Amino acid sequence: MNNQNNQIRINISINGESYEVQVDPEMRLIDLLRDKLGFTGTKEGCGKGECGACTVIMDGKTVNSCLVLAFQADGKEILTIEGMGTLDNLHPIQEAFIRNGAVQCGYCIPGMVLSAKSLLDKNPAPTEEEIRRGISGNLCRCTGYQKIVDAIKDAAAEMRGDRNER
Ligand code: FES
Ligand code: FES
Repeated sequence: MNNQNNQIRINISINGESYEVQVDPEMRLIDLLRDKLGFTGTKEGCGKGECGACTVIMDGKTVNSCLVLAFQADGKEILTIEGMGTLDNLHPIQEAFIRNGAVQCGYCIPGMVLSAKSLLDKNPAPTEEEIRRGISGNLCRCTGYQKIVDAIKDAAAEMRGDRNER
């Protein structure tokens, strides 16, 4: 709904909590998340849909939050990295990234973890090729990708309950 300041009121669910916020029509979802609501785990790299650092999950699908306008998220459910786990209670994917030494500077990691979650939600036992395809929209300038792929494979095994059989 537009008001007199040309702002749009939207209702959005983020990590299971509902927010009612006023946004400018041109505001991007990444700016709503980071600047207005403080979900700074979502990172901005290229700002044009090429690096995947800003990946979040919207209604079950990964999106580049730099390419989505905030008002387009009206009525949607968003998952950001803050909704995955806490320092005291990491998500199995986050634990696997640490266990496999898959984190260097860390800038790409929130987006990588969310892309991995989206992949594993659909395919609990992906092949290496499927993992590489699943993270193909997420660029990492540090790791060379192999440890990230290993971490996702390890997380998948852990989440299936058969990690000890590897
Ligand atoms: S910052 Fe959104 S894809 Fe790079
Ligand atoms: S760990 Fe540095 S960009 Fe991926």
